Amino acid sequence: MLILGIETSCDETSAAIVEDGRDVLSNIVYSQIEDHKEWGGVIPEIASRLHIEKIFPIIDKCLQDANKTFADIDAISVTNKPGLIGALLIGVNVAKTLAWVHKKPLIPVNHLFGHVYANFIDSDLKPPFICLLASGGHTQIIEVKAYGDMEILGETIDDAAGEAFDKVARLLNLPYPGGPHLDKLAQTANDKSKYKFPISKVPACDFSFSGLKTAALRLKEKITSADPKEWEENRANIAYAFQDCVARTFHKKINEAIERTGLNKIVLAGGVAANSGVRSLFKDSFPAEDLAFPSLKYCTDNAAMIAAAAFFEKENQIKPNEKLDFEVYSRV
Ligand code: KG4
Ligand code: ZN
Repeated sequence: MLILGIETSCDETSAAIVEDGRDVLSNIVYSQIEDHKEWGGVIPEIASRLHIEKIFPIIDKCLQDANKTFADIDAISVTNKPGLIGALLIGVNVAKTLAWVHKKPLIPVNHLFGHVYANFIDSDLKPPFICLLASGGHTQIIEVKAYGDMEILGETIDDAAGEAFDKVARLLNLPYPGGPHLDKLAQTANDKSKYKFPISKVPACDFSFSGLKTAALRLKEKITSADPKEWEENRANIAYAFQDCVARTFHKKINEAIERTGLNKIVLAGGVAANSGVRSLFKDSFPAEDLAFPSLKYCTDNAAMIAAAAFFEKENQIKPNEKLDFEVYSRV
């Protein structure tokens, strides 16, 4: 089954064609990072305007790259939640229009579950497993009991892990989005034990990152007021200590989830799953056969994961003769 996926929930405009949820024929991603950089974050109005400009050329290129036409496509899928409302509306209205014009079934997809299903791409992974989803807006532990059957075991009570990465990266004077830059800087640390941040004490499978963010800010204030040179010389060591604290937090919470569910298969998803410190702690802690990550290009936002999710949740499809009246939601 060939599914065309469309993703416009935040600052990536993307279209992909995926066969049977696992084989990517094409995946085109236009990242708007350069367009938002000077504001230090995503500006929703700019995001919506760029999605309008880019979406049709990207869908055309996606079909061309896969050497397919709409006649070959079995269904269209689109992210309808969560995300920026204006941005979601562009993708959803384009998808509804294409589904109507070409008389194709349409499958609305929860972006967060898309991140989970990214793990099925180029892999033979099967449920049940535990998934740690860490992105710019969400941090959750999900029990994937079967295809389409997921239970959220815990989530952040304040900031998402990606948000904490981006804010601490800003303290370190790194460009937006800071996560990947902080990751690179941490790899150059020359004294990995110089600083240590404590793991939050939030119980069970829930997370909290706002205390860690504040601790990083206080450390910066303390060091710079005493000796600004010390701050400059230790930026990489501080980046390392922050990243290490997030990785240890993930590790602790995954162990809680293992205990709670009795499952030992662990899967990471979302932009922060691209982090080298998180990946290496997990690789060192769990047997390779119990651990899965999406490849780096499917960790951050992309339409291939939306088309993959749609294949495994195709019972949610709206058939060509049915009313296309589903909505977009900023939250889930
Ligand atoms: O999943 P994603 O692309 O978009 C959302 O759905 O939010 O995640 C984006 C987040 C950003 O906060 C970005 O800084 C973070 O993922 N990120 C990373 C890395 N690559 C992306 N954080 C830490 N290390 C990385 N290598
Ligand atoms: Zn995402």
